[in-house]
Amino acid sequence: MSVTASAQVLTSASQEDKPGLSTMAFISDTTALSRVSADLFNMTLGKANIREGSIDAALAIGDWPRNLDLLIVDLADAIDPIADAAALKTAVPGGCIVIGVGRVNDVALFRDLIAVGFNDYLALPFAEGAMARAVERALDLRQRTGGAALSGQSAAKDTTPRTLSVIGARGGVGATTTAVTVAAMLGARLKEEVLLIDFDLHYGSLMLALDLEAIDALREALDQPDRIDALFIQQVAQKKSDFLYAMGAEEAPTNDFQARPHAAGDFLKSIHRRFRWVVADVPRGDPVIQRQVIEASTDILLVTDLSLPGVRDAMRLQQLVHDVAPAAKLYIATGGAIDARRSAVKVSDVERTLKHKVDCQIPADTAAALSAVNVGKPVSEAAPASGIVKALRPLVAGLDTPDKGAGVARVRKTASLFERLGRGLKK
Ligand SMILES: Nc1ncnc2c1ncn2[C@@H]1O[C@H](COP(=O)(O)OP(=O)(O)OP(=O)(O)O)[C@@H](O)[C@H]1O
Ligand SMILES: [Mg+2]
Repeated sequence: MSVTASAQVLTSASQEDKPGLSTMAFISDTTALSRVSADLFNMTLGKANIREGSIDAALAIGDWPRNLDLLIVDLADAIDPIADAAALKTAVPGGCIVIGVGRVNDVALFRDLIAVGFNDYLALPFAEGAMARAVERALDLRQRTGGAALSGQSAAKDTTPRTLSVIGARGGVGATTTAVTVAAMLGARLKEEVLLIDFDLHYGSLMLALDLEAIDALREALDQPDRIDALFIQQVAQKKSDFLYAMGAEEAPTNDFQARPHAAGDFLKSIHRRFRWVVADVPRGDPVIQRQVIEASTDILLVTDLSLPGVRDAMRLQQLVHDVAPAAKLYIATGGAIDARRSAVKVSDVERTLKHKVDCQIPADTAAALSAVNVGKPVSEAAPASGIVKALRPLVAGLDTPDKGAGVARVRKTASLFERLGRGLKK
């Protein structure tokens, strides 16, 4: 296909149902700048935001448009172009195509840029139409690999930052397993990078579950959230798969850490510049962090077992959620780490006591849970046919469609041991 023909195809596709590619460019070479603007005029319907500048100017941007489809950036004068490119790639929205330009004509540089996630690199000077062809190639590839790169698709997506906190009412109910599986399923469903954060800085098991390295810098970041920048996130958020990243620490038991007020909220705000969806594994043992993370959450998944202490603690946590995050959507799940068939408490007892529907009953599937741990992957990848995945599917689908989400559902009250327990707790 000729350049003109390909530009026409893109233009007509854009004009039918899309507002053109949402594009930004930072180019310091003036000839290249005018060539790029001419090349992209059709694809962007003349609305590309093209600025004179280089990757430094791009790195200074704090808030990228969430629907950005295409970014072209001049690596001119960068002392460490690969580090800068990696930091930039981490900062821009996941679906954005990034193309570098620069004076160095070196295949090693090209390879390194591709390795950090750039889609292409053009050495200066480049011929008329070269940029249009590069963009077309990147779009083509993105479409074939299932990514949503066209603005018509990405603009339709909800862009509100979301933090889902997963909290176990008791130890060992399966909260971490659930957090990891939900995050992986959500990322795969949205085709969007989701970040898992283990807020249990001392004893968290999330990074172990995914066979990733714990990083000390998480504590520093909670201490000084204003210092979090794109480079920090790139270094600390570890990639597990295309749509799943994770961060967690392994602080020594002797390091006591007291988060300053609103630390977790400020930290999450910075993280949300890069990741729209965060799934937090919330510790029970640290009431300060627990409260702060809950406060900053838009969605909360409370996982309980079917035991009397489990239901009591689920109720206390429900009260905490009600007090500190009244606007958050609360979901209740019964965990599968302890087989429900061996439990004295029934799901209907939980619903009556909490006056909330149980949104998800996670079955016990020891083989699936074990194989996930063994391969260091989410259950949805290690054992996709597991009942755990099946049970979580409606919950994951509901998370992303707010109106249809499983909100608070009142359950008719009858007098029971659990109700008496509830009355006792509220006194
Ligand atoms: N649905 C399930 N079926 C069977 N085993 C499970 C299930 N979910 C989790 N497990 C297993 O139960 C154990 C505890 O799981 P997990 O670490 O997810 O619980 P947790 O609530 O996060 O625990 P902690 O309180 O230590 O943070 C793990 O060995 C895990 O593999
Ligand atoms: Mg856990």
